[in-house]
Amino acid sequence: MRMVDLIEKKRDGKTLTTEEINFIINGFTDGSVPDYQMSAFAMAVFLKGMTEVEYSDLTMAMVHSGDTIDLSNIEGIKVDKHSTGGVGDTTTLVLGPLVASLDVPVAKMSGRGLGHTGGTIDKLEAVEGFHVELTEEEFIKQVNDIKVAVIGQTGDLTPADKKLYALRDVTATVNSIPLISSSIMSKKIAAGADAIVLDVKTGAGAFMKDIEDARDLAKAMVKIGNNVGRQTVAIISDMSQPLGLAIGNALEVKEAIDTLKGEGPKDLEELCLILGSQMVVLAKKAETLDEARAKLVENMKNGKALEVFKKFLVAQGGDGSVVDDPSRLPQAKYIQEVVAKEDGYVSRIVADAVGTAAMKLGAGRATKESVIDLAVGLMLNKKVGDAVKKGESLVTVYSNTEDISEVEKDLLENIILSKEKVEEPTLVYDLIM
Ligand code: URA
Ligand code: CA
Repeated sequence: MRMVDLIEKKRDGKTLTTEEINFIINGFTDGSVPDYQMSAFAMAVFLKGMTEVEYSDLTMAMVHSGDTIDLSNIEGIKVDKHSTGGVGDTTTLVLGPLVASLDVPVAKMSGRGLGHTGGTIDKLEAVEGFHVELTEEEFIKQVNDIKVAVIGQTGDLTPADKKLYALRDVTATVNSIPLISSSIMSKKIAAGADAIVLDVKTGAGAFMKDIEDARDLAKAMVKIGNNVGRQTVAIISDMSQPLGLAIGNALEVKEAIDTLKGEGPKDLEELCLILGSQMVVLAKKAETLDEARAKLVENMKNGKALEVFKKFLVAQGGDGSVVDDPSRLPQAKYIQEVVAKEDGYVSRIVADAVGTAAMKLGAGRATKESVIDLAVGLMLNKKVGDAVKKGESLVTVYSNTEDISEVEKDLLENIILSKEKVEEPTLVYDLIM
Protein backbone atom coordinates (compact mmCIF):
# COMPACT_ATOMS: atom_id res chain seq x y z
CA MET A 1 0.00 0.00 0.00
CA ARG A 2 1.13 3.55 -0.68
CA MET A 3 -0.05 6.57 1.30
CA VAL A 4 -0.28 8.71 -1.85
CA ASP A 5 -2.86 6.31 -3.33
CA LEU A 6 -4.96 6.44 -0.17
CA ILE A 7 -4.88 10.26 -0.13
CA GLU A 8 -6.01 10.20 -3.77
CA LYS A 9 -8.80 7.74 -2.99
CA LYS A 10 -10.18 9.98 -0.24
CA ARG A 11 -9.62 13.11 -2.34
CA ASP A 12 -11.89 11.53 -4.97
CA GLY A 13 -14.56 10.82 -2.38
CA LYS A 14 -14.15 7.05 -2.27
CA THR A 15 -14.50 4.86 0.80
CA LEU A 16 -11.43 3.45 2.57
CA THR A 17 -11.29 -0.10 3.91
CA THR A 18 -10.41 -1.06 7.49
CA GLU A 19 -6.95 -2.23 6.33
CA GLU A 20 -6.32 1.05 4.55
CA ILE A 21 -7.26 3.12 7.60
CA ASN A 22 -5.07 0.94 9.83
CA PHE A 23 -2.19 1.42 7.38
CA ILE A 24 -2.56 5.21 7.55
CA ILE A 25 -2.75 5.42 11.37
CA ASN A 26 -0.01 2.84 11.99
CA GLY A 27 2.26 4.60 9.52
CA PHE A 28 1.55 8.01 10.99
CA THR A 29 2.24 6.70 14.51
CA ASP A 30 5.57 5.05 13.62
CA GLY A 31 6.68 7.97 11.43
CA SER A 32 6.66 6.18 8.08
CA VAL A 33 3.77 8.42 7.00
CA PRO A 34 5.17 11.97 7.22
CA ASP A 35 3.24 14.98 8.49
CA TYR A 36 2.79 16.47 5.01
CA GLN A 37 0.98 13.39 3.74
CA MET A 38 -1.12 13.16 6.89
CA SER A 39 -2.03 16.85 6.50
CA ALA A 40 -3.18 16.24 2.93
CA PHE A 41 -5.19 13.26 4.13
CA ALA A 42 -6.83 15.31 6.91
CA MET A 43 -7.83 17.93 4.36
CA ALA A 44 -9.29 15.26 2.05
CA VAL A 45 -11.37 13.95 4.98
CA PHE A 46 -12.37 17.49 5.87
CA LEU A 47 -13.64 18.11 2.32
CA LYS A 48 -15.08 14.67 1.40
CA GLY A 49 -16.18 13.32 4.77
CA MET A 50 -16.20 9.69 5.87
CA THR A 51 -18.82 6.98 6.19
CA GLU A 52 -19.89 5.81 9.61
CA VAL A 53 -17.85 2.62 9.17
CA GLU A 54 -14.77 4.61 8.15
CA TYR A 55 -14.81 6.91 11.17
CA SER A 56 -15.50 3.96 13.48
CA ASP A 57 -12.44 2.23 11.98
CA LEU A 58 -10.44 5.45 12.39
CA THR A 59 -11.44 5.59 16.06
CA MET A 60 -10.31 2.04 16.79
CA ALA A 61 -7.07 2.50 14.82
CA MET A 62 -6.27 5.49 17.08
CA VAL A 63 -7.23 3.49 20.21
CA HIS A 64 -4.71 0.81 19.16
CA SER A 65 -1.97 3.35 18.40
CA GLY A 66 -0.93 3.40 22.09
CA ASP A 67 -1.65 2.10 25.58
CA THR A 68 -5.15 1.28 26.75
CA ILE A 69 -6.35 1.17 30.34
CA ASP A 70 -7.63 -2.17 31.55
CA LEU A 71 -10.47 -1.67 34.04
CA SER A 72 -11.65 -5.27 33.95
CA ASN A 73 -10.73 -5.76 37.62
CA ILE A 74 -13.34 -3.20 38.58
CA GLU A 75 -16.75 -4.72 39.24
CA GLY A 76 -19.67 -3.38 37.24
CA ILE A 77 -20.19 -1.43 34.05
CA LYS A 78 -17.78 1.51 33.84
CA VAL A 79 -19.66 4.48 32.45
CA ASP A 80 -17.69 7.57 31.50
CA LYS A 81 -19.10 11.06 30.91
CA HIS A 82 -17.58 13.53 28.50
CA SER A 83 -18.48 17.17 27.94
CA THR A 84 -17.32 18.95 24.81
CA GLY A 85 -15.89 22.09 26.32
CA GLY A 86 -17.89 24.71 28.10
CA VAL A 87 -17.24 27.41 30.67
CA GLY A 88 -17.25 26.80 34.41
CA ASP A 89 -18.63 23.32 33.87
CA THR A 90 -18.81 21.80 37.34
CA THR A 91 -20.76 18.70 36.28
CA THR A 92 -17.84 16.23 36.57
CA LEU A 93 -17.21 17.19 40.21
CA VAL A 94 -20.87 16.58 41.01
CA LEU A 95 -21.56 13.53 38.86
CA GLY A 96 -18.67 11.38 40.11
CA PRO A 97 -19.80 11.16 43.75
CA LEU A 98 -23.48 11.41 42.83
CA VAL A 99 -23.63 8.31 40.61
CA ALA A 100 -21.06 6.49 42.77
CA SER A 101 -23.56 6.84 45.62
CA LEU A 102 -25.75 4.42 43.61
CA ASP A 103 -22.83 1.98 43.17
CA VAL A 104 -22.03 3.06 39.61
CA PRO A 105 -18.23 2.65 39.35
CA VAL A 106 -16.52 5.92 38.37
CA ALA A 107 -12.90 5.32 37.32
CA LYS A 108 -11.95 8.71 35.99
CA MET A 109 -8.75 9.67 34.28
CA SER A 110 -8.59 13.42 34.12
CA GLY A 111 -6.39 16.28 33.03
CA ARG A 112 -5.33 19.77 33.86
CA GLY A 113 -5.19 21.48 30.52
CA LEU A 114 -5.56 25.02 29.35
CA GLY A 115 -8.68 27.07 29.65
CA HIS A 116 -10.83 29.49 31.59
CA THR A 117 -10.48 27.52 34.80
CA GLY A 118 -8.31 24.53 35.56
CA GLY A 119 -9.35 21.00 34.68
CA THR A 120 -11.07 18.64 37.10
CA ILE A 121 -7.77 17.79 38.82
CA ASP A 122 -6.85 21.44 39.40
CA LYS A 123 -10.28 22.06 40.90
CA LEU A 124 -9.96 19.10 43.26
CA GLU A 125 -6.51 20.28 44.30
CA ALA A 126 -8.23 23.31 45.83
CA VAL A 127 -8.91 20.82 48.63
CA GLU A 128 -5.79 20.79 50.80
CA GLY A 129 -3.77 17.57 50.49
CA PHE A 130 -5.77 16.08 47.62
CA HIS A 131 -3.62 14.29 45.05
CA VAL A 132 -4.07 12.11 41.97
CA GLU A 133 -0.77 10.22 42.08
CA LEU A 134 -2.28 6.76 42.57
CA THR A 135 -0.77 3.53 41.32
CA GLU A 136 -3.00 1.55 39.01
CA GLU A 137 -3.60 -0.98 41.84
CA GLU A 138 -4.58 1.78 44.30
CA PHE A 139 -6.85 3.32 41.69
CA ILE A 140 -8.68 0.05 41.02
CA LYS A 141 -8.94 -0.82 44.71
CA GLN A 142 -10.40 2.59 45.53
CA VAL A 143 -13.07 2.28 42.84
CA ASN A 144 -14.01 -1.17 44.11
CA ASP A 145 -14.12 0.11 47.73
CA ILE A 146 -15.86 3.49 47.44
CA LYS A 147 -16.87 3.50 43.75
CA VAL A 148 -15.04 6.66 42.72
CA ALA A 149 -11.42 7.63 42.06
CA VAL A 150 -9.65 10.19 39.88
CA ILE A 151 -6.18 9.58 38.50
CA GLY A 152 -3.93 11.82 36.37
CA GLN A 153 -2.99 10.87 32.81
CA THR A 154 -1.06 7.61 32.82
CA GLY A 155 0.53 5.77 29.93
CA ASP A 156 0.71 6.91 26.37
CA LEU A 157 -2.94 6.91 25.31
CA THR A 158 -3.90 7.53 21.65
CA PRO A 159 -0.57 8.99 20.46
CA ALA A 160 -1.96 9.06 16.90
CA ASP A 161 -4.71 11.42 18.06
CA LYS A 162 -2.23 13.69 19.84
CA LYS A 163 -0.10 13.98 16.69
CA LEU A 164 -3.08 14.37 14.38
CA TYR A 165 -4.73 16.99 16.57
CA ALA A 166 -1.53 19.06 16.53
CA LEU A 167 -1.46 18.88 12.71
CA ARG A 168 -5.16 19.71 12.37
CA ASP A 169 -4.65 22.76 14.53
CA VAL A 170 -2.25 24.27 11.98
CA THR A 171 -3.87 23.01 8.74
CA ALA A 172 -7.43 24.34 9.19
CA THR A 173 -8.84 20.83 9.60
CA VAL A 174 -10.07 20.88 13.20
CA ASN A 175 -13.71 21.46 12.41
CA SER A 176 -14.58 18.15 10.76
CA ILE A 177 -17.21 15.83 12.26
CA PRO A 178 -15.39 12.54 11.42
CA LEU A 179 -12.12 13.92 12.82
CA ILE A 180 -13.58 15.43 15.99
CA SER A 181 -15.82 12.46 16.79
CA SER A 182 -13.05 9.87 16.30
CA SER A 183 -10.65 12.03 18.34
CA ILE A 184 -12.96 12.29 21.35
CA MET A 185 -14.24 8.71 21.23
CA SER A 186 -10.77 7.16 20.83
CA LYS A 187 -9.66 8.81 24.09
CA LYS A 188 -12.73 7.62 26.02
CA ILE A 189 -12.37 4.05 24.73
CA ALA A 190 -8.62 3.90 25.40
CA ALA A 191 -9.33 5.06 28.97
CA GLY A 192 -11.43 1.94 29.52
CA ALA A 193 -15.05 3.07 29.25
CA ASP A 194 -17.65 0.31 28.75
CA ALA A 195 -20.39 2.87 28.15
CA ILE A 196 -20.29 6.60 27.46
CA VAL A 197 -22.58 9.54 28.16
CA LEU A 198 -21.80 12.60 26.06
CA ASP A 199 -22.78 16.15 26.84
CA VAL A 200 -22.39 18.05 23.59
CA LYS A 201 -22.56 21.78 24.23
CA THR A 202 -23.96 24.31 21.84
CA GLY A 203 -24.06 28.12 21.90
CA ALA A 204 -21.61 30.99 22.23
CA GLY A 205 -19.41 29.31 24.85
CA ALA A 206 -19.14 26.00 22.95
CA PHE A 207 -17.03 24.42 20.26
CA MET A 208 -20.18 23.86 18.18
CA LYS A 209 -21.86 27.26 18.12
CA ASP A 210 -24.72 25.97 16.01
CA ILE A 211 -27.28 23.40 17.19
CA GLU A 212 -27.36 21.47 13.89
CA ASP A 213 -23.57 21.02 14.00
CA ALA A 214 -23.81 19.90 17.62
CA ARG A 215 -26.49 17.38 16.67
CA ASP A 216 -24.40 15.99 13.79
CA LEU A 217 -21.38 15.63 16.08
CA ALA A 218 -23.48 13.89 18.74
CA LYS A 219 -24.97 11.48 16.19
CA ALA A 220 -21.52 10.60 14.84
CA MET A 221 -20.14 9.86 18.31
CA VAL A 222 -23.18 7.77 19.27
CA LYS A 223 -22.78 5.75 16.05
CA ILE A 224 -19.08 5.15 16.75
CA GLY A 225 -19.79 3.96 20.30
CA ASN A 226 -22.53 1.63 19.22
CA ASN A 227 -20.51 0.32 16.23
CA VAL A 228 -17.54 -0.61 18.43
CA GLY A 229 -19.49 -2.18 21.30
CA ARG A 230 -19.59 0.73 23.76
CA GLN A 231 -23.17 1.77 24.41
CA THR A 232 -23.26 5.56 23.97
CA VAL A 233 -25.90 8.24 24.43
CA ALA A 234 -25.60 12.00 23.96
CA ILE A 235 -27.51 15.04 25.05
CA ILE A 236 -27.25 18.46 23.45
CA SER A 237 -27.11 21.13 26.13
CA ASP A 238 -26.95 24.89 26.21
CA MET A 239 -23.69 26.82 26.58
CA SER A 240 -25.02 30.18 25.45
CA GLN A 241 -24.34 31.26 29.03
CA PRO A 242 -22.11 29.67 31.70
CA LEU A 243 -23.59 26.71 33.56
CA GLY A 244 -24.24 27.30 37.25
CA LEU A 245 -22.96 30.41 38.99
CA ALA A 246 -19.31 29.68 39.86
CA ILE A 247 -16.34 30.09 37.50
CA GLY A 248 -13.11 29.37 39.34
CA ASN A 249 -11.53 26.39 41.04
CA ALA A 250 -12.29 26.61 44.79
CA LEU A 251 -15.57 28.37 43.95
CA GLU A 252 -16.62 25.41 41.79
CA VAL A 253 -15.72 22.92 44.52
CA LYS A 254 -18.02 24.88 46.84
CA GLU A 255 -20.70 24.87 44.13
CA ALA A 256 -20.32 21.10 43.72
CA ILE A 257 -20.76 20.62 47.49
CA ASP A 258 -23.94 22.71 47.41
CA THR A 259 -25.25 20.79 44.41
CA LEU A 260 -24.55 17.39 46.00
CA LYS A 261 -26.78 18.57 48.87
CA GLY A 262 -29.53 19.61 46.47
CA GLU A 263 -28.81 23.28 47.21
CA GLY A 264 -26.93 24.20 44.04
CA PRO A 265 -27.95 26.36 41.09
CA LYS A 266 -31.00 24.85 39.37
CA ASP A 267 -29.48 24.59 35.87
CA LEU A 268 -26.40 22.76 37.13
CA GLU A 269 -28.52 20.44 39.28
CA GLU A 270 -30.88 19.67 36.40
CA LEU A 271 -28.07 18.89 33.95
CA CYS A 272 -26.39 16.64 36.54
CA LEU A 273 -29.66 14.78 37.09
CA ILE A 274 -30.21 14.32 33.35
CA LEU A 275 -26.65 13.10 32.69
CA GLY A 276 -26.56 11.11 35.93
CA SER A 277 -29.81 9.29 35.13
CA GLN A 278 -28.36 8.21 31.79
CA MET A 279 -25.20 6.95 33.52
CA VAL A 280 -27.19 5.01 36.13
CA VAL A 281 -29.35 3.32 33.49
CA LEU A 282 -26.33 2.44 31.30
CA ALA A 283 -24.65 0.93 34.39
CA LYS A 284 -27.83 -1.09 34.96
CA LYS A 285 -28.42 0.32 38.43
CA ALA A 286 -31.96 1.38 37.48
CA GLU A 287 -34.36 0.23 34.78
CA THR A 288 -35.78 3.56 33.72
CA LEU A 289 -34.57 7.16 33.63
CA ASP A 290 -37.35 8.16 36.03
CA GLU A 291 -36.32 5.51 38.54
CA ALA A 292 -32.66 6.58 38.23
CA ARG A 293 -33.52 10.24 38.71
CA ALA A 294 -35.65 9.53 41.81
CA LYS A 295 -32.76 7.58 43.36
CA LEU A 296 -30.26 10.37 42.60
CA VAL A 297 -32.54 13.02 44.12
CA GLU A 298 -32.99 10.83 47.20
CA ASN A 299 -29.21 10.57 47.69
CA MET A 300 -28.86 14.35 47.41
CA LYS A 301 -31.51 14.82 50.10
CA ASN A 302 -30.37 12.07 52.51
CA GLY A 303 -26.71 13.16 52.45
CA LYS A 304 -25.34 9.98 50.83
CA ALA A 305 -23.99 11.76 47.73
CA LEU A 306 -22.09 14.27 49.87
CA GLU A 307 -20.82 11.47 52.12
CA VAL A 308 -19.31 9.74 49.06
CA PHE A 309 -17.63 13.01 48.03
CA LYS A 310 -16.07 13.30 51.48
CA LYS A 311 -14.83 9.68 51.45
CA PHE A 312 -13.39 10.24 47.98
CA LEU A 313 -11.48 13.38 49.06
CA VAL A 314 -10.11 11.63 52.16
CA ALA A 315 -9.15 8.48 50.21
CA GLN A 316 -6.94 10.67 47.99
CA GLY A 317 -5.30 12.57 50.86
CA GLY A 318 -7.68 15.54 50.92
CA ASP A 319 -9.14 17.47 53.83
CA GLY A 320 -12.65 15.97 53.96
CA SER A 321 -13.88 18.58 56.42
CA VAL A 322 -14.24 21.12 53.57
CA VAL A 323 -17.49 19.33 52.84
CA ASP A 324 -18.91 20.54 56.19
CA ASP A 325 -16.97 23.81 56.22
CA PRO A 326 -16.24 25.16 52.71
CA SER A 327 -14.50 28.20 54.26
CA ARG A 328 -11.50 25.83 54.58
CA LEU A 329 -11.06 26.12 50.79
CA PRO A 330 -8.55 28.74 49.51
CA GLN A 331 -10.03 32.22 49.99
CA ALA A 332 -9.42 35.29 47.84
CA LYS A 333 -8.14 38.48 49.45
CA TYR A 334 -10.62 40.82 47.76
CA ILE A 335 -14.34 40.34 47.17
CA GLN A 336 -15.88 43.06 45.01
CA GLU A 337 -19.17 43.56 43.18
CA VAL A 338 -19.68 44.49 39.54
CA VAL A 339 -22.99 46.32 39.46
CA ALA A 340 -25.50 47.08 36.70
CA LYS A 341 -25.33 50.58 35.22
CA GLU A 342 -29.06 50.60 34.34
CA ASP A 343 -32.33 48.72 34.90
CA GLY A 344 -33.19 45.88 32.53
CA TYR A 345 -33.24 42.16 31.89
CA VAL A 346 -30.15 40.06 31.31
CA SER A 347 -30.37 39.08 27.64
CA ARG A 348 -26.93 37.52 27.09
CA ILE A 349 -23.96 36.37 29.14
CA VAL A 350 -21.22 35.68 26.59
CA ALA A 351 -19.87 32.49 28.14
CA ASP A 352 -16.38 32.41 26.63
CA ALA A 353 -15.74 36.10 27.31
CA VAL A 354 -16.81 35.74 30.93
CA GLY A 355 -14.57 32.66 31.16
CA THR A 356 -11.68 34.71 29.81
CA ALA A 357 -12.32 37.34 32.49
CA ALA A 358 -11.96 34.59 35.14
CA MET A 359 -8.74 33.47 33.47
CA LYS A 360 -7.35 37.00 33.65
CA LEU A 361 -7.89 36.91 37.41
CA GLY A 362 -5.70 33.80 37.46
CA ALA A 363 -8.35 31.03 37.58
CA GLY A 364 -7.09 29.33 34.41
CA ARG A 365 -3.93 28.74 32.43
CA ALA A 366 -3.10 30.88 29.40
CA THR A 367 0.00 28.76 28.72
CA LYS A 368 1.18 25.38 29.99
CA GLU A 369 3.57 27.13 32.38
CA SER A 370 0.97 29.38 34.03
CA VAL A 371 0.31 28.79 37.71
CA ILE A 372 -3.36 28.72 38.68
CA ASP A 373 -4.66 30.76 41.59
CA LEU A 374 -7.20 28.34 43.08
CA ALA A 375 -8.98 30.99 45.18
CA VAL A 376 -9.97 33.47 42.48
CA GLY A 377 -12.92 33.57 40.11
CA LEU A 378 -16.42 34.84 39.54
CA MET A 379 -19.84 34.19 41.01
CA LEU A 380 -22.70 35.21 38.75
CA ASN A 381 -25.54 36.82 40.63
CA LYS A 382 -27.81 37.05 37.57
CA LYS A 383 -28.50 34.70 34.68
CA VAL A 384 -30.20 35.20 31.33
CA GLY A 385 -33.85 36.15 31.86
CA ASP A 386 -33.34 37.74 35.29
CA ALA A 387 -34.52 41.28 35.99
CA VAL A 388 -31.87 43.64 37.33
CA LYS A 389 -32.00 47.11 38.89
CA LYS A 390 -29.38 49.81 38.44
CA GLY A 391 -26.76 49.39 41.18
CA GLU A 392 -27.59 45.71 41.78
CA SER A 393 -24.69 43.24 41.61
CA LEU A 394 -24.32 41.25 38.38
CA VAL A 395 -21.18 39.39 39.40
CA THR A 396 -19.09 39.01 42.55
CA VAL A 397 -15.37 39.05 41.72
CA TYR A 398 -12.96 37.07 43.93
CA SER A 399 -9.42 38.30 43.32
CA ASN A 400 -6.00 38.54 44.87
CA THR A 401 -5.32 41.93 43.29
CA GLU A 402 -7.25 44.95 44.43
CA ASP A 403 -7.57 46.60 41.01
CA ILE A 404 -10.13 44.71 38.96
CA SER A 405 -11.02 47.55 36.57
CA GLU A 406 -10.06 45.61 33.43
CA VAL A 407 -12.08 42.55 34.44
CA GLU A 408 -15.00 44.78 35.40
CA LYS A 409 -14.93 46.38 31.96
CA ASP A 410 -14.88 42.93 30.27
CA LEU A 411 -17.80 41.76 32.38
CA LEU A 412 -19.94 44.82 31.73
CA GLU A 413 -19.32 44.43 27.98
CA ASN A 414 -20.28 40.77 28.00
CA ILE A 415 -23.27 40.72 30.31
CA ILE A 416 -25.79 42.38 28.06
CA LEU A 417 -29.00 43.95 29.34
CA SER A 418 -32.14 44.68 27.38
CA LYS A 419 -35.19 46.78 28.16
CA GLU A 420 -37.59 43.99 27.14
CA LYS A 421 -38.31 40.87 29.14
CA VAL A 422 -36.15 37.92 28.02
CA GLU A 423 -36.99 34.18 28.08
CA GLU A 424 -34.79 31.83 30.06
CA PRO A 425 -32.86 29.67 27.54
CA THR A 426 -33.63 25.98 27.06
CA LEU A 427 -31.15 23.85 29.01
CA VAL A 428 -31.32 20.56 27.09
CA TYR A 429 -32.25 20.56 23.41
CA ASP A 430 -32.09 16.94 22.44
CA LEU A 431 -31.25 13.39 23.39
CA ILE A 432 -29.49 11.20 20.82
CA MET A 433 -29.33 7.46 21.31
N1 URA B 1 -11.69 17.79 21.32
C1 URA B 1 -10.96 16.70 21.00
O1 URA B 1 -10.57 15.95 21.88
N2 URA B 1 -10.71 16.43 19.71
C2 URA B 1 -11.15 17.22 18.72
O2 URA B 1 -10.89 16.92 17.57
C3 URA B 1 -11.88 18.37 19.06
C4 URA B 1 -12.14 18.62 20.36
CA1 CA C 1 -20.09 26.47 37.24
